[in-house]
Amino acid sequence: MERPRIAVEPPGPRAKEVIKLHREFIATTTHDPENLPLVVERGEGVWLYDVDGNKYLDFSSSISVNNLGYPTHPEVKKIVIEMLDKLAHAAGTDFFNPYQVMLAEKLVRIAPGDFKKKVFFCNSGTEAIEAAIKLLRRASPRRYLLGFIGCFHGRTMGSLSLTASKNIQRKGYVPLVGGVIHVPYPNPYRNPWGIDGYEYPDDLVNKVLEYIEYWVFEHLVPPGEVAGIFFEPIQGEGGYVVPPKNFFRELDKLAKKYSIALVDDEVQMGLGRTGKMFAIEHFGIAPDIIAMAKALSGGVIPIGATIFRADLDFPEPGAHSNTFGGHALACMVALKTVELIEKLLPRVQQLEKIFRDYLTLLKDRYSVVGDVRGLGLAWGIEFVRNRKTKEHDVKTRNRVLYEALRRGLVLLPCGRSAIRVAPPLIITEEEALVGLEILEEAIKATTT
Ligand SMILES: Cc1ncc(COP(=O)(O)O)c(C=O)c1O
Repeated sequence: MERPRIAVEPPGPRAKEVIKLHREFIATTTHDPENLPLVVERGEGVWLYDVDGNKYLDFSSSISVNNLGYPTHPEVKKIVIEMLDKLAHAAGTDFFNPYQVMLAEKLVRIAPGDFKKKVFFCNSGTEAIEAAIKLLRRASPRRYLLGFIGCFHGRTMGSLSLTASKNIQRKGYVPLVGGVIHVPYPNPYRNPWGIDGYEYPDDLVNKVLEYIEYWVFEHLVPPGEVAGIFFEPIQGEGGYVVPPKNFFRELDKLAKKYSIALVDDEVQMGLGRTGKMFAIEHFGIAPDIIAMAKALSGGVIPIGATIFRADLDFPEPGAHSNTFGGHALACMVALKTVELIEKLLPRVQQLEKIFRDYLTLLKDRYSVVGDVRGLGLAWGIEFVRNRKTKEHDVKTRNRVLYEALRRGLVLLPCGRSAIRVAPPLIITEEEALVGLEILEEAIKATTT
């Protein structure tokens, strides 16, 4: 059985040098060199190797991008080579090409909803959301959009207006795009009403819907002025939060009642991560618009897509476009990635139990673990100082990240005090157990 191999405590000497130069030459983004000093040199399957020769098991999929592992799935690699000999880029929004048509047909076919759909191609998640905003702006005279507190939709000005995950992401950037109203997300563990949403899911769902109908529609803006409701089916950046099973069906009823479009952000949870192609399939509704990116890239070449009800299409040429949308190579990589992930779904569904059982056990064993939630291969572990008060334990969360890393397990944070567990979908049962055992050792190390 393959195991991690830590020869030098991270960051080793070469890692230190890269981090130093990185800080000198590269813009400040989201790195946390204190708790996550990982300098990746190469990857192989579910394993990452750093510049000092350490070998790690990856429980991050580089934020749900490398669902097919590292460096490049052999079948995807074959497509890349084929396309490099044929065509990589040829102005996909000015010239036509068959490759984007093939991918669009596939996405339209697999996306939930028995209605006519179309696809807009771009390069990232934030652009896929921007396209959704612009589709609604042109398709409807309604000027307002609803978003949920805790959801993340990207960092360009339009998507950032909908993002309400951490205040640092918005700080200093106001005024953002106007007309966005945020409402509470049905977070079963933490919500404004102190409802235990695991015990009383219907109460929580009713509270959120009441909030929209009464506080928003009666006090702020009538429903006839709301064009769309944006949501993540499971919050990613916000903490891998899974809402009650019937929430989206009830939200769908409300949206239909007022002819409001539902916009499903599948950028992080889409493409097999939860055991279904789209996470919203767990909840039995068909959104009007779906945004995708991350894993669609095959971990090879960035691509984003907005799948939408065909009647929402831009009304005339030139209303929206870009340079790299419909990039031939990216589209064929994405198509192969989708086909490969489809085959992995049964495996993800099987592996879910291993993660559910082990992580639940961690909650039983360690009082710092306040909540464990997830589906498929998307799990969140939230750390608290006190189970009753649910005070966030950021310090323990950060220590767990580092203690795991120095034992050879790569994890990423999410929410205020949570960790996301999101391994590549190609992980084996044995590899999963190796990672889970290291995770337990890391938690134990912070509590003893
Ligand atoms: C749910 C969700 N939407 C949108 C985005 C933005 O995607 P990108 O970083 O590709 O712009 C992210 C990124 O983490 C995300 O998780």
